[in-house]
Amino acid sequence: MITKHNISSLFEFVKNQKKSNNLGVDLINKSFVLSQHSKIADISIDKYKVVFNCKIEKKIKEIGQILLPILMLKKKFYIGQIGQSLDGKIALLNGNSHYINDKNSISYLHSLRSICDAVVVGVNTIRKDDPLLTTRAIKGPNPQRIIIDPSLKLTNKYKVFKDGMPNIIFTHSKLNKKFNNTQIYQLPERNFTNLIYQNINRLGYKFVLVEGGSKTISKFLENGLLNIMQFIIAPTIIGSGINSINIEPITNLKNVIRTKNNIFKFGKEIIVSLEF
Ligand SMILES: NC(=O)c1ccc[n+]([C@@H]2O[C@H](COP(=O)([O-])OP(=O)(O)OC[C@H]3O[C@@H](n4cnc5c(N)ncnc54)[C@H](OP(=O)(O)O)[C@@H]3O)[C@@H](O)[C@H]2O)c1
Repeated sequence: MITKHNISSLFEFVKNQKKSNNLGVDLINKSFVLSQHSKIADISIDKYKVVFNCKIEKKIKEIGQILLPILMLKKKFYIGQIGQSLDGKIALLNGNSHYINDKNSISYLHSLRSICDAVVVGVNTIRKDDPLLTTRAIKGPNPQRIIIDPSLKLTNKYKVFKDGMPNIIFTHSKLNKKFNNTQIYQLPERNFTNLIYQNINRLGYKFVLVEGGSKTISKFLENGLLNIMQFIIAPTIIGSGINSINIEPITNLKNVIRTKNNIFKFGKEIIVSLEF
């Protein structure tokens, strides 16, 4: 039975084994082995489709069907995610954002974190949500936390500086501030987003989740640095609030971002996954 407690071993297995476009996986003694006969394997994964011939929790099956093909196809990726209402809002005007998506989306987000080596967030997300950025809902490996804090506004009072796990901060501030368990990288302000991207690559992180918030994702998107952008859409209308994406205005509809996409039903919500 595949559950939230072992789905991350399956992700890890597929990440390490993706030699062909069609992968058959057998579950033997609760560990995953590559099958010679992919058609009768417990799990078979081809380019865009995953078939489970074994018992699996419904929610976990939906997560696997979205994430396993990505792991099969990509040698490295930057994946952006944003949870939003139908009308594209991630928070009310007063900043309240708990919760726009339903409980299932937590397992999905933690699964996304578990397939990544690093997770990137902006300083406002740390200040407003005080997140841990771990995978505790599915018990997977935790990604390296990377925080973009250009003016070093943060202090040690946030949870990420208290749990003993490491952090990286990218800044262009010259302040001599210290944070617990944190390596600070000072970068020039000019071309900051691209320099962050180059430094993340230089540090060896291949699978990177750009988790939010809106400003951070928008910067990566408009600089063309995302390979995949996923919108987790709750069937709600907020009316006015904070937009999920804020990029420079365009003057011609020919120039909208329109790209290859996959749409998945996920519980009572939908996930729209754009590929660049
Ligand atoms: N729904 C979701 O999936 C989701 C996920 C995460 C967060 N959130 C929500 O998003 C909200 C925060 O979003 P936000 O857009 O206000 O903030 P944010 O993206 O968390 O942080 C933005 C700030 O980070 C710095 N920054 C990030 N990337 C940068 C870049 N490439 N270049 C320069 N500066 C950069 C800037 O700091 P300075 O202003 O100091 O220059 C910027 O103002 C919170 O309410 C949180 O709850 C929602």
